[in-house]
Amino acid sequence: MNEGTSSTGRSSAASGTPIQPPASFVAGANVTDGSLRESFAERWPECWERAADFLDWSSPYDTVLDATDGYDWFAGGTLNASYNCVDRHVEAGRKSHAALKWEGRLGETRTYTYHDLYREVNALAAALRERGVEAGDVVTTYMPMLPELPVTMLACARIGAVHSVVFAGYSADALAMRLADTESAYLVTCDGYYRRGTAYDLKRKADNACLDVPQSVDRLIVDRLDDDRSYGDNYVGYAALLDEYRGETVEPVPRAASDPLFVIYTSGTTGRPKAVRHTTGGYLAQVAWTSHAVLDLGPGDTHLCSADVGWITGHSYVVYGPLALGATTVLYEGTSDYPERDHLWGIVERNAVDVFYAAPTVIRAFMKWGAEYPADHDLSSLRLLGTVGEPIDETTWRWYHENVGGGECPIVDTWWQTETGGILVSTLPGVDAMRPGAAGPPLPGIAADVVDPHGSPVEPGESGSLVLTRPWPGMALDLGESTGEDPTDWRYETGDAATVDAGGYVRLLGREGNTLNVAGRRLGTREVEAAIVAVDGVAEAAVVGAEDTRRDTVLYAYVTPQRDAGSEARLRERVRDAVADAIGGFAVPDVVLLTPDLPKTRSGKVLRRHLRQIANGEAVSDTGALRNPEIVGELESIVDGVS
Ligand code: WT7
Repeated sequence: MNEGTSSTGRSSAASGTPIQPPASFVAGANVTDGSLRESFAERWPECWERAADFLDWSSPYDTVLDATDGYDWFAGGTLNASYNCVDRHVEAGRKSHAALKWEGRLGETRTYTYHDLYREVNALAAALRERGVEAGDVVTTYMPMLPELPVTMLACARIGAVHSVVFAGYSADALAMRLADTESAYLVTCDGYYRRGTAYDLKRKADNACLDVPQSVDRLIVDRLDDDRSYGDNYVGYAALLDEYRGETVEPVPRAASDPLFVIYTSGTTGRPKAVRHTTGGYLAQVAWTSHAVLDLGPGDTHLCSADVGWITGHSYVVYGPLALGATTVLYEGTSDYPERDHLWGIVERNAVDVFYAAPTVIRAFMKWGAEYPADHDLSSLRLLGTVGEPIDETTWRWYHENVGGGECPIVDTWWQTETGGILVSTLPGVDAMRPGAAGPPLPGIAADVVDPHGSPVEPGESGSLVLTRPWPGMALDLGESTGEDPTDWRYETGDAATVDAGGYVRLLGREGNTLNVAGRRLGTREVEAAIVAVDGVAEAAVVGAEDTRRDTVLYAYVTPQRDAGSEARLRERVRDAVADAIGGFAVPDVVLLTPDLPKTRSGKVLRRHLRQIANGEAVSDTGALRNPEIVGELESIVDGVS
């Protein structure tokens, strides 16, 4: 078995050779039927009944897909997400089974059985309802990784409210924008949180955000810092409120399959984040089915997904997917390398985690620190590993496979997006061979193409744009709203560059256009630019991504100061502060370069392609279109000076 040791000569396979899933894994895998892709293709869209069958419906749906006016999945059906993630497991005799395990920053642990979760969710649902929350209302959360976060999400779902989870690393301005945009009149937040041993004040940011929105906001606050601070009249303490309602139960409100379960914001191509709404039926079916088929989860399993619940990965694979299947989900507060670099592996060992899912950037950090950290722990409970959020290069894949998986766990490289709700491209771990560096074929029922700028499929191996050519249940509401004249022409452009090989495996090459993947999450360069140009003393700005030596994306901001901008050091600081205030600390550019000009065409368009090449230390090509080609050499020497 896997001892979690760094294996020496045991190389899995030569470069490029497909790696078959180990027989030991296949023997117990949820899906081993190699004809699943064909069976989905033959009976389409009825095949998606298979996903809906993972759920308990309050009333059955009439049709799998009604395409008469947009795409309406499981039309006519009603269900409740909280019932599906909590009650039915209690009813099935698994009330003392762990639903959620949590590790806090001081080594505190909490375990919620399904029965505990049932009581907490019911109490909060009763409290929220008493405070006036009705079906369809938007409840915003602004919390770090505390058990209260999934509890709040499920309590909202129980009464038919729509949650809007805002990542705790976002700034007050970013929270205000989301509160205002959703007209949300309810906020569940906490006083602060610890990260790397430092306490961060969250309440002050919540206060500022609420001052900035037109509506009045009813606020619940979780006491995390335990520092005797008085919260003032605007806040009601979460714990005391829950104590009042504990023991009460609230009937789960049946929701139409197409009713929104939540809204989440992601970076689009403009300077403003865009709202993405996910449905109750289609979304939940998609995440339950993919948790079963791709993450191989079931009721006996413990799952650790290292993503924050504030991102879509956390919604789908920390909360809804594992809980819909009755598995145990593990949450931890803080970072994977604090207080020690083996922190994450300690969590795996202590909780006997079966399935581990993380972004490649996390794996690359561990790879840099060395194999001794995973080797110090017994990781033999692991059965399957996953990655998500950005391409995983072959070196990192092999390191992960050997040093975390002991050479015996399959790896699923799962491609999806905020808009897709759940995984769409991946190998099925009990069926398909793995090809390190390629995510895999589209899942059963999913159809994808790699196309040229005219929309025609490219030859195998050639790069193009990844498009999805058939709808799927977990698609965001907004994607399927209008299908135009002919629904068979429907296409969803993912914004990713990719190749597809002769075997149908999709290899992702990165984002096209002006959104980036930074540390496994999407960030729009236009959003960052909008924050920078608002700074006093800034004339112009362009933000691009570059790859560092570890293949992580780093953010470069090229800033043109106004004539009287004053001290350069101060201006750089104002730029950094402005981004932290507008978006959050995680979006602050790694490098801020002051330059007298930006490379521009004769019509004044900034050529970011050149800025990317310069940031990457690549030769700058095709400067013919530039009206100011001399700026290229100047920028190259500025970049040389900082790196
Ligand atoms: C973008 C979506 C999906 C949840 C996390 C991010 C990139 C995602 C992979 C993968 C290569 C990937 C894509 C995609 N991406 N998974 N396995 N291989 N790239 O969600 O913030 O909506 O970002 O992440 O570029 O479009 P998101």
